[in-house]
Amino acid sequence: MRISIIGTGYVGLVSGACFSKLGLNVICVDNDVEKLNRLQHNIIDIYEPGLEELVRRGINSGKLSFSDDLPNAVNQSDIVFISVGTQGKQNGELDISQVLISSHEIAKAMVGYTLIVTKSTVPVGTGSEIEKIVKNIADKKLFDIVSNPEFLREGSAVYDFLNPERIVIGCKNEKVANLLAGLYKRINLGPVFQTSIETAELIKFASNSFLATKITFINEMSILCESVGADIRDLATALRFDKRIGDTYLSPGPGYGGSCLPKDTKALFETARNHDVQLPLINSVIQANDDRVIQLSQRVINSFENSKGIRIGVLGTTFKANTDDIRHSPSIYLILRLMRAGFKINTYDPKGNINTLKSLPEAQVCENAYEAGINCQAIIIMTEWEAFRDLDFDKLGKLMSKKLIFDFRNLLDEKKLLKLGFTYKGVGFKTPEGIKN
Ligand code: UDX
Repeated sequence: MRISIIGTGYVGLVSGACFSKLGLNVICVDNDVEKLNRLQHNIIDIYEPGLEELVRRGINSGKLSFSDDLPNAVNQSDIVFISVGTQGKQNGELDISQVLISSHEIAKAMVGYTLIVTKSTVPVGTGSEIEKIVKNIADKKLFDIVSNPEFLREGSAVYDFLNPERIVIGCKNEKVANLLAGLYKRINLGPVFQTSIETAELIKFASNSFLATKITFINEMSILCESVGADIRDLATALRFDKRIGDTYLSPGPGYGGSCLPKDTKALFETARNHDVQLPLINSVIQANDDRVIQLSQRVINSFENSKGIRIGVLGTTFKANTDDIRHSPSIYLILRLMRAGFKINTYDPKGNINTLKSLPEAQVCENAYEAGINCQAIIIMTEWEAFRDLDFDKLGKLMSKKLIFDFRNLLDEKKLLKLGFTYKGVGFKTPEGIKN
Protein backbone atom coordinates (compact mmCIF):
# COMPACT_ATOMS: atom_id res chain seq x y z
CA MET A 1 0.00 0.00 0.00
CA ARG A 2 1.40 3.41 -0.96
CA ILE A 3 0.15 6.68 0.41
CA SER A 4 0.87 10.30 -0.42
CA ILE A 5 0.69 13.19 1.99
CA ILE A 6 0.32 16.65 0.50
CA GLY A 7 1.95 19.25 2.74
CA THR A 8 4.92 18.74 5.05
CA GLY A 9 3.88 21.05 7.90
CA TYR A 10 3.42 19.79 11.45
CA VAL A 11 0.59 17.38 10.75
CA GLY A 12 1.78 16.23 7.32
CA LEU A 13 5.35 15.50 8.31
CA VAL A 14 4.50 13.81 11.59
CA SER A 15 1.81 11.69 9.89
CA GLY A 16 4.14 10.75 7.04
CA ALA A 17 7.01 9.80 9.34
CA CYS A 18 4.70 7.80 11.63
CA PHE A 19 2.97 5.96 8.76
CA SER A 20 6.41 5.01 7.41
CA LYS A 21 7.33 3.67 10.85
CA LEU A 22 4.22 1.49 10.60
CA GLY A 23 5.57 -0.06 7.42
CA LEU A 24 3.67 1.90 4.79
CA ASN A 25 5.34 3.40 1.74
CA VAL A 26 4.88 7.14 2.08
CA ILE A 27 5.59 9.99 -0.31
CA CYS A 28 5.49 13.41 1.36
CA VAL A 29 4.75 16.10 -1.19
CA ASP A 30 5.45 19.81 -0.89
CA ASN A 31 6.06 22.64 -3.34
CA ASP A 32 8.86 24.12 -1.22
CA VAL A 33 11.83 22.49 -2.95
CA GLU A 34 14.39 23.86 -0.50
CA LYS A 35 12.46 22.45 2.41
CA LEU A 36 12.28 19.07 0.64
CA ASN A 37 16.05 19.15 0.14
CA ARG A 38 16.56 19.79 3.82
CA LEU A 39 14.16 16.97 4.72
CA GLN A 40 15.97 14.57 2.40
CA HIS A 41 19.09 15.36 4.43
CA ASN A 42 17.12 14.89 7.62
CA ILE A 43 17.18 18.59 8.45
CA ILE A 44 13.83 19.42 10.02
CA ASP A 45 12.75 23.03 10.37
CA ILE A 46 10.71 22.46 13.52
CA TYR A 47 11.69 21.08 16.91
CA GLU A 48 9.49 18.12 17.74
CA PRO A 49 10.72 15.38 20.10
CA GLY A 50 11.34 12.07 18.29
CA LEU A 51 10.56 13.37 14.80
CA GLU A 52 14.11 13.64 13.49
CA GLU A 53 14.82 10.03 14.46
CA LEU A 54 11.62 8.81 12.72
CA VAL A 55 12.37 10.73 9.53
CA ARG A 56 15.94 9.37 9.46
CA ARG A 57 14.68 5.81 9.93
CA GLY A 58 12.01 6.28 7.28
CA ILE A 59 14.48 7.59 4.71
CA ASN A 60 17.03 4.86 5.49
CA SER A 61 14.44 2.08 5.22
CA GLY A 62 13.24 3.47 1.87
CA LYS A 63 9.69 3.73 3.22
CA LEU A 64 9.66 7.54 3.39
CA SER A 65 10.46 9.79 0.47
CA PHE A 66 9.95 13.44 -0.41
CA SER A 67 8.86 14.95 -3.69
CA ASP A 68 7.61 18.14 -5.30
CA ASP A 69 5.98 16.12 -8.07
CA LEU A 70 2.36 15.87 -6.88
CA PRO A 71 0.97 14.16 -10.02
CA ASN A 72 3.61 11.47 -9.89
CA ALA A 73 3.05 10.85 -6.17
CA VAL A 74 -0.73 10.76 -6.54
CA ASN A 75 -0.86 8.39 -9.47
CA GLN A 76 1.22 5.89 -7.52
CA SER A 77 -0.96 6.10 -4.40
CA ASP A 78 -4.08 4.36 -3.15
CA ILE A 79 -4.70 6.93 -0.45
CA VAL A 80 -3.88 10.65 -0.64
CA PHE A 81 -3.91 12.81 2.49
CA ILE A 82 -4.37 16.55 2.22
CA SER A 83 -2.34 18.14 5.01
CA VAL A 84 -1.70 21.63 3.75
CA GLY A 85 -1.98 24.71 5.97
CA THR A 86 -5.27 26.50 6.62
CA GLN A 87 -4.25 29.83 8.15
CA GLY A 88 -6.75 32.10 9.84
CA LYS A 89 -7.76 35.12 7.79
CA GLN A 90 -8.20 38.62 9.22
CA ASN A 91 -11.96 38.03 9.67
CA GLY A 92 -11.41 34.77 11.61
CA GLU A 93 -12.39 32.44 8.75
CA LEU A 94 -9.88 29.85 7.59
CA ASP A 95 -8.11 30.20 4.27
CA ILE A 96 -8.73 26.86 2.55
CA SER A 97 -7.32 27.89 -0.81
CA GLN A 98 -4.39 25.47 -0.52
CA VAL A 99 -6.78 22.61 0.22
CA LEU A 100 -8.86 23.40 -2.85
CA ILE A 101 -5.80 23.79 -5.08
CA SER A 102 -4.50 20.42 -3.85
CA SER A 103 -7.89 18.77 -4.54
CA HIS A 104 -7.77 20.13 -8.05
CA GLU A 105 -4.30 18.75 -8.67
CA ILE A 106 -5.15 15.39 -7.10
CA ALA A 107 -8.22 15.07 -9.33
CA LYS A 108 -6.13 15.70 -12.42
CA ALA A 109 -3.43 13.24 -11.41
CA MET A 110 -5.25 10.29 -9.91
CA VAL A 111 -5.35 6.95 -11.70
CA GLY A 112 -7.73 4.21 -10.62
CA TYR A 113 -9.63 4.30 -7.35
CA THR A 114 -8.27 6.94 -4.93
CA LEU A 115 -9.24 7.69 -1.37
CA ILE A 116 -8.85 11.43 -0.75
CA VAL A 117 -8.49 12.17 2.95
CA THR A 118 -8.52 15.62 4.52
CA LYS A 119 -6.27 15.91 7.57
CA SER A 120 -5.99 19.69 7.43
CA THR A 121 -8.35 21.48 9.81
CA VAL A 122 -11.08 22.70 7.49
CA PRO A 123 -14.47 24.35 8.03
CA VAL A 124 -17.65 22.34 7.73
CA GLY A 125 -18.64 21.92 4.12
CA THR A 126 -15.09 21.69 2.76
CA GLY A 127 -15.46 17.95 2.14
CA SER A 128 -18.39 18.52 -0.16
CA GLU A 129 -16.52 21.33 -1.94
CA ILE A 130 -13.63 18.94 -2.54
CA GLU A 131 -16.05 16.33 -3.82
CA LYS A 132 -17.49 18.81 -6.34
CA ILE A 133 -14.05 19.81 -7.57
CA VAL A 134 -12.93 16.23 -8.03
CA LYS A 135 -16.20 15.21 -9.72
CA ASN A 136 -15.93 18.13 -12.12
CA ILE A 137 -12.43 17.23 -13.18
CA ALA A 138 -12.44 13.46 -12.84
CA ASP A 139 -16.01 12.48 -13.55
CA LYS A 140 -15.13 9.02 -14.83
CA LYS A 141 -12.60 8.17 -12.14
CA LEU A 142 -13.47 6.35 -8.93
CA PHE A 143 -12.82 8.08 -5.66
CA ASP A 144 -14.13 8.73 -2.18
CA ILE A 145 -13.72 11.68 0.15
CA VAL A 146 -12.93 11.27 3.85
CA SER A 147 -12.47 13.72 6.68
CA ASN A 148 -9.93 12.40 9.18
CA PRO A 149 -9.03 15.23 11.58
CA GLU A 150 -5.77 14.98 13.46
CA PHE A 151 -5.62 15.72 17.18
CA LEU A 152 -1.87 15.66 17.79
CA ARG A 153 -0.32 18.27 20.06
CA GLU A 154 2.93 20.02 19.34
CA GLY A 155 5.64 18.81 21.67
CA SER A 156 4.16 15.31 21.88
CA ALA A 157 3.07 14.95 18.26
CA VAL A 158 4.78 11.63 17.52
CA TYR A 159 3.45 10.06 20.71
CA ASP A 160 -0.04 11.41 20.05
CA PHE A 161 -0.10 10.11 16.49
CA LEU A 162 0.96 6.63 17.54
CA ASN A 163 -1.30 6.53 20.60
CA PRO A 164 -4.52 8.18 19.49
CA GLU A 165 -7.39 8.42 21.96
CA ARG A 166 -9.82 8.18 19.07
CA ILE A 167 -9.68 8.12 15.31
CA VAL A 168 -12.45 10.07 13.66
CA ILE A 169 -13.38 9.01 10.14
CA GLY A 170 -16.01 11.09 8.40
CA CYS A 171 -17.28 9.52 5.18
CA LYS A 172 -20.31 8.24 3.30
CA ASN A 173 -20.34 4.59 4.26
CA GLU A 174 -18.72 1.86 6.31
CA LYS A 175 -16.85 0.36 3.37
CA VAL A 176 -14.93 3.60 2.89
CA ALA A 177 -14.34 3.96 6.63
CA ASN A 178 -12.87 0.46 6.75
CA LEU A 179 -10.39 1.30 3.99
CA LEU A 180 -8.90 4.07 6.09
CA ALA A 181 -9.28 2.25 9.39
CA GLY A 182 -7.15 -0.50 7.83
CA LEU A 183 -4.19 1.90 7.79
CA TYR A 184 -4.53 2.66 11.45
CA LYS A 185 -4.94 -1.01 12.46
CA ARG A 186 -1.15 -1.12 12.63
CA ILE A 187 -1.10 1.09 15.70
CA ASN A 188 -2.45 0.87 19.16
CA LEU A 189 -5.81 2.21 18.12
CA GLY A 190 -8.16 4.17 20.22
CA PRO A 191 -11.77 3.75 19.19
CA VAL A 192 -12.44 4.32 15.50
CA PHE A 193 -15.46 6.54 15.28
CA GLN A 194 -17.29 6.80 11.99
CA THR A 195 -19.40 9.87 11.30
CA SER A 196 -20.62 11.96 8.41
CA ILE A 197 -18.02 14.18 6.74
CA GLU A 198 -19.64 17.33 8.19
CA THR A 199 -19.61 15.97 11.72
CA ALA A 200 -15.97 14.92 11.47
CA GLU A 201 -15.04 18.38 10.24
CA LEU A 202 -16.86 19.99 13.15
CA ILE A 203 -15.43 17.62 15.79
CA LYS A 204 -11.96 19.14 15.43
CA PHE A 205 -13.26 22.66 16.12
CA ALA A 206 -15.47 21.47 18.97
CA SER A 207 -12.56 19.64 20.55
CA ASN A 208 -10.16 22.57 20.39
CA SER A 209 -12.84 25.03 21.47
CA PHE A 210 -13.74 22.89 24.46
CA LEU A 211 -10.09 22.77 25.53
CA ALA A 212 -9.87 26.54 25.09
CA THR A 213 -13.00 26.92 27.24
CA LYS A 214 -11.52 24.80 30.04
CA ILE A 215 -8.33 26.87 30.06
CA THR A 216 -10.30 30.10 30.05
CA PHE A 217 -12.50 28.83 32.88
CA ILE A 218 -9.54 28.01 35.10
CA ASN A 219 -7.91 31.35 34.29
CA GLU A 220 -11.12 33.10 35.31
CA MET A 221 -11.25 31.10 38.55
CA SER A 222 -7.64 32.07 39.23
CA ILE A 223 -8.55 35.76 39.09
CA LEU A 224 -11.37 35.17 41.55
CA CYS A 225 -9.08 33.15 43.84
CA GLU A 226 -6.66 36.06 44.04
CA SER A 227 -9.43 38.41 45.10
CA VAL A 228 -11.09 36.22 47.72
CA GLY A 229 -7.94 34.73 49.24
CA ALA A 230 -8.44 31.23 47.80
CA ASP A 231 -5.75 29.13 46.13
CA ILE A 232 -6.22 28.03 42.52
CA ARG A 233 -3.71 25.20 42.94
CA ASP A 234 -5.91 23.45 45.49
CA LEU A 235 -9.09 24.38 43.66
CA ALA A 236 -7.80 22.85 40.41
CA THR A 237 -6.63 19.72 42.22
CA ALA A 238 -10.09 19.25 43.68
CA LEU A 239 -11.67 19.68 40.25
CA ARG A 240 -9.29 17.13 38.74
CA PHE A 241 -10.51 14.42 41.14
CA ASP A 242 -13.92 14.68 39.51
CA LYS A 243 -13.93 12.33 36.53
CA ARG A 244 -16.80 14.28 35.00
CA ILE A 245 -14.53 17.31 34.75
CA GLY A 246 -11.35 15.44 33.85
CA ASP A 247 -7.81 16.11 34.98
CA THR A 248 -6.29 18.09 32.11
CA TYR A 249 -6.40 21.62 30.74
CA LEU A 250 -6.90 23.00 34.22
CA SER A 251 -3.55 24.76 34.66
CA PRO A 252 -3.94 28.52 34.89
CA GLY A 253 -1.50 30.59 32.92
CA PRO A 254 -1.12 33.43 30.48
CA GLY A 255 -3.85 32.12 28.19
CA TYR A 256 -3.86 29.59 25.39
CA GLY A 257 -1.69 30.19 22.34
CA GLY A 258 -0.25 28.25 19.43
CA SER A 259 -1.31 27.65 15.88
CA CYS A 260 -4.58 25.86 16.67
CA LEU A 261 -6.66 26.91 19.69
CA PRO A 262 -6.73 30.67 18.89
CA LYS A 263 -7.36 30.03 15.20
CA ASP A 264 -9.95 27.27 15.62
CA THR A 265 -12.07 29.06 18.23
CA LYS A 266 -12.29 32.08 15.93
CA ALA A 267 -13.04 29.91 12.91
CA LEU A 268 -15.80 28.07 14.79
CA PHE A 269 -17.36 31.38 15.74
CA GLU A 270 -17.22 32.57 12.12
CA THR A 271 -18.69 29.32 10.79
CA ALA A 272 -21.61 29.70 13.17
CA ARG A 273 -22.07 33.34 12.22
CA ASN A 274 -22.14 32.41 8.54
CA HIS A 275 -25.01 30.06 9.40
CA ASP A 276 -26.81 32.74 11.47
CA VAL A 277 -26.03 30.94 14.71
CA GLN A 278 -24.70 32.85 17.73
CA LEU A 279 -22.05 31.22 19.94
CA PRO A 280 -21.91 33.57 22.95
CA LEU A 281 -19.84 31.13 25.01
CA ILE A 282 -17.13 30.76 22.37
CA ASN A 283 -17.19 34.51 21.79
CA SER A 284 -16.55 35.12 25.50
CA VAL A 285 -13.73 32.56 25.54
CA ILE A 286 -12.02 34.34 22.64
CA GLN A 287 -12.40 37.76 24.31
CA ALA A 288 -11.31 36.49 27.73
CA ASN A 289 -8.22 34.85 26.30
CA ASP A 290 -7.26 38.00 24.40
CA ASP A 291 -7.70 39.97 27.65
CA ARG A 292 -5.71 37.54 29.75
CA VAL A 293 -2.29 38.52 28.50
CA ILE A 294 -3.25 42.20 28.76
CA GLN A 295 -4.17 41.70 32.45
CA LEU A 296 -0.90 39.95 33.21
CA SER A 297 1.17 42.54 31.36
CA GLN A 298 -0.62 45.24 33.35
CA ARG A 299 0.18 43.40 36.55
CA VAL A 300 3.88 43.68 35.72
CA ILE A 301 3.62 47.30 34.60
CA ASN A 302 1.74 48.27 37.79
CA SER A 303 4.50 46.79 39.93
CA PHE A 304 6.86 49.56 38.93
CA GLU A 305 6.39 53.28 39.49
CA ASN A 306 8.17 54.04 36.26
CA SER A 307 8.88 51.49 33.57
CA LYS A 308 11.28 53.59 31.50
CA GLY A 309 14.53 51.75 30.99
CA ILE A 310 13.80 49.06 33.58
CA ARG A 311 15.14 45.68 32.47
CA ILE A 312 13.01 42.55 32.80
CA GLY A 313 13.94 38.96 31.95
CA VAL A 314 11.28 36.82 30.29
CA LEU A 315 11.91 33.08 30.54
CA GLY A 316 10.05 31.16 27.85
CA THR A 317 8.86 32.62 24.58
CA THR A 318 7.26 29.54 23.02
CA PHE A 319 3.49 29.09 23.43
CA LYS A 320 4.12 26.01 25.56
CA ALA A 321 7.03 23.74 26.52
CA ASN A 322 8.75 21.17 24.25
CA THR A 323 8.33 23.13 21.06
CA ASP A 324 10.17 25.95 19.30
CA ASP A 325 6.87 27.41 18.08
CA ILE A 326 6.13 31.01 19.05
CA ARG A 327 3.01 31.43 16.91
CA HIS A 328 0.33 33.24 18.93
CA SER A 329 2.51 32.85 21.97
CA PRO A 330 1.21 34.80 25.00
CA SER A 331 4.85 35.44 25.87
CA ILE A 332 5.50 37.33 22.64
CA TYR A 333 2.32 39.40 23.17
CA LEU A 334 3.37 40.19 26.75
CA ILE A 335 6.89 41.20 25.69
CA LEU A 336 5.50 43.52 23.03
CA ARG A 337 3.27 45.22 25.59
CA LEU A 338 6.09 45.58 28.09
CA MET A 339 8.41 47.05 25.47
CA ARG A 340 5.71 49.47 24.45
CA ALA A 341 5.45 50.54 28.10
CA GLY A 342 9.18 51.36 28.12
CA PHE A 343 10.73 48.23 29.64
CA LYS A 344 13.91 46.73 28.24
CA ILE A 345 13.57 43.00 27.74
CA ASN A 346 15.95 40.07 28.01
CA THR A 347 14.54 36.73 26.87
CA TYR A 348 15.64 33.15 26.92
CA ASP A 349 13.91 30.02 25.65
CA PRO A 350 15.48 26.54 25.49
CA LYS A 351 14.24 25.97 21.91
CA GLY A 352 12.58 29.19 20.83
CA ASN A 353 15.54 31.60 20.69
CA ILE A 354 15.94 31.55 16.91
CA ASN A 355 12.26 32.25 16.28
CA THR A 356 12.26 34.92 18.99
CA LEU A 357 15.17 36.71 17.35
CA LYS A 358 13.27 36.79 14.06
CA SER A 359 10.09 38.09 15.62
CA LEU A 360 11.48 40.44 18.31
CA PRO A 361 14.70 41.97 17.02
CA GLU A 362 14.52 44.69 19.72
CA ALA A 363 14.66 42.20 22.59
CA GLN A 364 17.95 40.96 24.01
CA VAL A 365 17.84 37.22 23.27
CA CYS A 366 20.15 35.46 25.73
CA GLU A 367 21.97 32.13 25.67
CA ASN A 368 20.72 30.96 29.03
CA ALA A 369 18.41 31.92 31.88
CA TYR A 370 21.22 33.37 34.00
CA GLU A 371 22.31 35.73 31.25
CA ALA A 372 18.66 36.74 30.87
CA GLY A 373 18.59 37.66 34.56
CA ILE A 374 21.54 40.06 34.49
CA ASN A 375 20.59 43.52 35.84
CA CYS A 376 16.90 42.65 35.75
CA GLN A 377 14.42 44.05 38.25
CA ALA A 378 12.13 41.08 37.64
CA ILE A 379 11.97 37.69 35.97
CA ILE A 380 8.75 36.46 34.37
CA ILE A 381 8.14 32.75 33.75
CA MET A 382 5.97 32.53 30.62
CA THR A 383 6.50 28.93 29.45
CA GLU A 384 6.39 25.81 31.59
CA TRP A 385 9.81 24.39 30.57
CA GLU A 386 10.90 21.78 33.13
CA ALA A 387 14.45 23.16 32.97
CA PHE A 388 13.27 26.42 34.58
CA ARG A 389 12.23 24.50 37.70
CA ASP A 390 15.79 23.35 38.27
CA LEU A 391 17.56 26.68 37.85
CA ASP A 392 20.03 27.77 40.53
CA PHE A 393 17.86 30.63 41.85
CA ASP A 394 20.49 31.71 44.34
CA LYS A 395 22.83 32.36 41.42
CA LEU A 396 20.07 33.98 39.37
CA GLY A 397 19.05 36.26 42.24
CA LYS A 398 22.64 37.53 42.61
CA LEU A 399 22.72 38.50 38.94
CA MET A 400 19.43 40.41 39.18
CA SER A 401 19.16 43.94 40.52
CA LYS A 402 15.92 43.14 42.37
CA LYS A 403 14.72 39.69 43.43
CA LEU A 404 11.22 39.64 41.97
CA ILE A 405 9.65 36.70 40.12
CA PHE A 406 6.34 36.64 38.31
CA ASP A 407 5.57 32.97 37.76
CA PHE A 408 2.70 33.07 35.28
CA ARG A 409 2.72 29.25 34.98
CA ASN A 410 2.89 28.42 38.72
CA LEU A 411 5.91 26.34 37.83
CA LEU A 412 8.39 27.17 40.56
CA ASP A 413 8.81 26.16 44.17
CA GLU A 414 7.35 29.17 45.96
CA LYS A 415 8.75 28.27 49.42
CA LYS A 416 12.28 27.80 48.12
CA LEU A 417 12.18 31.19 46.40
CA LEU A 418 10.83 32.97 49.47
CA LYS A 419 13.66 31.48 51.53
CA LEU A 420 16.15 32.85 49.02
CA GLY A 421 14.70 36.31 49.53
CA PHE A 422 12.66 36.57 46.35
CA THR A 423 9.31 38.26 46.11
CA TYR A 424 7.25 35.59 44.38
CA LYS A 425 4.02 36.19 42.47
CA GLY A 426 2.22 33.24 41.00
CA VAL A 427 -1.26 33.24 39.47
CA GLY A 428 -4.43 32.40 41.37
CA PHE A 429 -3.28 32.75 44.96
CA LYS A 430 -2.37 35.62 47.24
CA THR A 431 1.22 36.63 47.85
CA PRO A 432 2.13 35.06 51.22
CA GLU A 433 2.04 37.20 54.39
CA GLY A 434 4.97 39.44 55.02
CA ILE A 435 5.99 39.59 51.39
CA LYS A 436 5.81 43.07 49.97
CA ASN A 437 3.93 43.48 46.72
C1 UDX B 1 -3.97 21.66 20.30
C2 UDX B 1 -4.83 20.44 20.61
O1 UDX B 1 -4.53 20.02 21.94
C3 UDX B 1 -4.58 19.33 19.62
O2 UDX B 1 -5.47 18.25 19.88
C4 UDX B 1 -4.80 19.85 18.21
O3 UDX B 1 -4.51 18.83 17.26
C5 UDX B 1 -3.95 21.07 17.95
O4 UDX B 1 -4.21 22.06 18.94
P1 UDX B 1 -1.44 22.37 20.65
O5 UDX B 1 -1.74 23.62 19.90
O6 UDX B 1 -0.18 21.65 20.34
O7 UDX B 1 -2.61 21.30 20.48
O8 UDX B 1 -1.40 22.81 22.19
P2 UDX B 1 -2.04 22.33 23.56
O9 UDX B 1 -1.13 21.39 24.24
O10 UDX B 1 -3.45 21.90 23.41
O11 UDX B 1 -1.99 23.73 24.37
C6 UDX B 1 -2.61 24.89 23.83
C7 UDX B 1 -2.36 26.09 24.70
O12 UDX B 1 -3.06 26.01 25.93
C8 UDX B 1 -0.90 26.33 25.08
O13 UDX B 1 -0.62 27.71 24.99
C9 UDX B 1 -0.82 25.86 26.50
O14 UDX B 1 0.21 26.45 27.26
C10 UDX B 1 -2.19 26.26 27.03
N1 UDX B 1 -2.65 25.48 28.18
C11 UDX B 1 -2.87 24.13 28.05
C12 UDX B 1 -2.90 26.12 29.39
O15 UDX B 1 -2.71 27.35 29.52
N2 UDX B 1 -3.36 25.38 30.43
C13 UDX B 1 -3.59 24.05 30.35
O16 UDX B 1 -4.01 23.46 31.36
C14 UDX B 1 -3.33 23.40 29.13
